[in-house]
Amino acid sequence: DFEYPHTFILVGASGDLAKKKIYPTIWYLYRDNLLPEKTKFIGYARTNQSMSDVQDKCKKYMKVRPGEEEKFKKFWEANDYLSGSYDKRVNYEFLNQTITKHEKGIIANRIFYLAVPPTVFEDVTVNIKNACVSIKGFTRVIIEKPFGRDDISSEKLSNHLAGLFKEEQIYRIDHYLGKEMVQNLMTIRFANQIFSPSWNRENIASVQISFKEPFGTEGRGGYFDDFGIIRDVMQNHLLQILSLVAMEKPVSLNPNDIRDEKVKVLRHISPIKLDDILIGQYIGNPKGQGEERLGYLDDPTVPKGSVTPTYALAALHINNARWQGVPFILRCGKALNERKAEVRIQYKDVPGDIFNGHAKRNELVIRVQPGEALYLKFMCKSPGMKFDLLETELDLTYSMRYKEADVPDAYERLILDVFTGTQMHFVRNDELKEAWRIFTPVLKLLEEQHIRPLPYEFGSRGPPEADTKLSEYDFKYSGSY
Ligand code: BG6
Repeated sequence: DFEYPHTFILVGASGDLAKKKIYPTIWYLYRDNLLPEKTKFIGYARTNQSMSDVQDKCKKYMKVRPGEEEKFKKFWEANDYLSGSYDKRVNYEFLNQTITKHEKGIIANRIFYLAVPPTVFEDVTVNIKNACVSIKGFTRVIIEKPFGRDDISSEKLSNHLAGLFKEEQIYRIDHYLGKEMVQNLMTIRFANQIFSPSWNRENIASVQISFKEPFGTEGRGGYFDDFGIIRDVMQNHLLQILSLVAMEKPVSLNPNDIRDEKVKVLRHISPIKLDDILIGQYIGNPKGQGEERLGYLDDPTVPKGSVTPTYALAALHINNARWQGVPFILRCGKALNERKAEVRIQYKDVPGDIFNGHAKRNELVIRVQPGEALYLKFMCKSPGMKFDLLETELDLTYSMRYKEADVPDAYERLILDVFTGTQMHFVRNDELKEAWRIFTPVLKLLEEQHIRPLPYEFGSRGPPEADTKLSEYDFKYSGSY
């Protein structure tokens, strides 16, 4: 397909996501010659602006290395920008003419990236369908969360989309699925005899999947407050990781075989109970302790008295033969002490202990970011005359081992997948439905009962109560999580 003309249409081209993420990503793909040669990029949004305005806004987010200036110029020459409203068909007809002009051929493919707010989503998709689909080539649409805010709104959106496009045309991005170590999970599990047989309730005590960010919601309070950390990170990114950790081995690497298994394991998870969740919200740090940091409620874009969580811990239970009784603990938070995302598989205590309780639990840690790594914590005899136990690590830190390997950015990988038509790392409609089934009831309860999140200081490890809660789930603190 790569020899045909392609058009990448960025709808919402004047927005934040476009300038900070999508323009830089398509530039890097273009720079590295990864896209079809005849690719044209068209930005579309309401803002009336010229191509050079677009360039000016995006430039500071795009890295141009010495010697690449000429190519960068060429990239912009392959770009066009059109302003138009989101709800007027005539504007899309004009967009269609612009695309057609470039296509110069019978077979030509179109990819629409919808970087638009949920309020205009339906208008945009209907108009694309009515006025802009490719006649002989493919038309694919990439969509970003929020995919609704609960089971009902999400289903409405899904039905709307299903009325316009086939599932094979819809690419729901969860950018965590584009991350190196998340993609690595299947290989670690299914290509290693050492892990496969012990990946179960007989051997594993708990699984912890965590996400931490050292900054708050500054400037994004409006969007964030409507959704909260559970919808923003846990229900999508962390649950996707969970499904890859917990699913059974797929029949093959075919994207639908993989997604069948992901859905199946999600179906074994009962909706989260209120008892299995803890929420927090950050407050400013005390005066005189480092740089002054404001609390969530001090952000002028956040409504007064909001009870939206910026931190959450939830335990999910998978009721199947492999996992029954093993808690899967999801934890995420903003304004914490560090940036980190990782999966921590904690094994059970060794039965029949002969070391007087000194043997610590094994842990397999898969660090998603920063600094991709995989390490296995295990016990060995301390080297030397003594017969003491020592906890040590088999450490595969990518930057040490694969010095020249460049780990691609998640967005680059995923957008390229859309060009090649690979849906393996995109969320299928039924996965989304299961995700909302698991999360909607508890979100409703938290909101209806107006449950106040526990306060935690900006830059801390989260609400202290979270550690107590963790110990309820057969998780033993090993000193470094
Ligand atoms: C996004 C969330 O999906 O993921 C943001 O909306 C969050 O709130 C971001 O900051 C984190 O992505 P990454 O790749 O920086 O870990």
